[in-house]
Amino acid sequence: MKIAVVGATGLVGGEILTVLHEQGFAAHQVIAAASERSVGKTINMGSAQLKVVSVEEAIALHPDYAIFSAGASTSRQYAPRFAEVGTTVIDNSSAWRKEPNIPLVVPEINMDAVKSTDRIIANPNCSTIQMVVALAELHRHYGLRRIVVATYQSITGTGFKAKCQLQHEEQLDDATLIANPKDYPMAYQHPIHHNLFPHGGDFLDDGYTTEEQKLVDETRKIFADQSILVSATVARVPVMGGHSEAVNAEFHHEFDLDEARALIAHTPGVVLQDNPSQALYPMPLYAWHHDEVFVGRVRRDPTQPRTLNLWVVADNLRKGAATNAVQILQQLIARHQ
Ligand code: A2P
Repeated sequence: MKIAVVGATGLVGGEILTVLHEQGFAAHQVIAAASERSVGKTINMGSAQLKVVSVEEAIALHPDYAIFSAGASTSRQYAPRFAEVGTTVIDNSSAWRKEPNIPLVVPEINMDAVKSTDRIIANPNCSTIQMVVALAELHRHYGLRRIVVATYQSITGTGFKAKCQLQHEEQLDDATLIANPKDYPMAYQHPIHHNLFPHGGDFLDDGYTTEEQKLVDETRKIFADQSILVSATVARVPVMGGHSEAVNAEFHHEFDLDEARALIAHTPGVVLQDNPSQALYPMPLYAWHHDEVFVGRVRRDPTQPRTLNLWVVADNLRKGAATNAVQILQQLIARHQ
């Protein structure tokens, strides 16, 4: 079996190689593809080295599966080309997520949305994945009516350039940072060190942003319920380990708080970390490089019936991207065995 990783030189691409290695895939099964700039370079997968090839070369090798993380325009251009040669594509970009005929999949929740004839499968946005995983069992038992979510998103979600910007700014004194000389490569319009941005992605006409709209559209598609109301605010924070989310979830049915906690603790892919007296709650530094979604600060909202407050943290490059994609791959492989 051959698996192409398109965007293998990127932050998510590197994480995909790591997760594939951890899950027992061998380096000789993997084709690392990236832009023409990177062709001929070598990159690591475990202790093995992979030579980077062009996307055209990867298509010519007719891999069984391709995991894409190279941006939406690359996906739009090349995912159908892989599909034509019989490859099943798992795409981490936003290119196909809203297409009605393309499944948007979190394996713990809706793997059954994938038909045997599907050749392109969309991986959801990182902040949506961790939120829906955290809420999945609660939704099954109590029925989600409305979610109000504020995110605190890691700069790693923006890619290598953002990581370099933060690392450079950490060396600057505050006066230089505030003067913002822009004499170094910047992924963002403003400095991110000692700062945060109260938005993510591009602004839409209604004042919300593309990252916020993803939380609305993708949550409804994954839970196959267009009636779920979602109100989102995305913030970008100078954090490396993962995304954090303050989630306020209102349900159709009343719940018992202890039962809700037990349901969260037994939700597939979730670790409950909720012991404030021991200073135990989810934090991005400790979610870093882990595959699970960490949930804590579980409280009843006293201002409204049937409503719960949660704090949800996950490594956005792992469960928010690479891990989810590799889990889809593993389930597809299992179907053929
Ligand atoms: P390259 O490193 O050759 O530019 P990140 O989001 O961390 O910046 O990573 C983006 C990934 O997408 C990189 O692997 C990058 O390759 C890849 N990529 C960007 N544009 C293209 C393209 N036109 N064709 C193939 N891969 C691309």
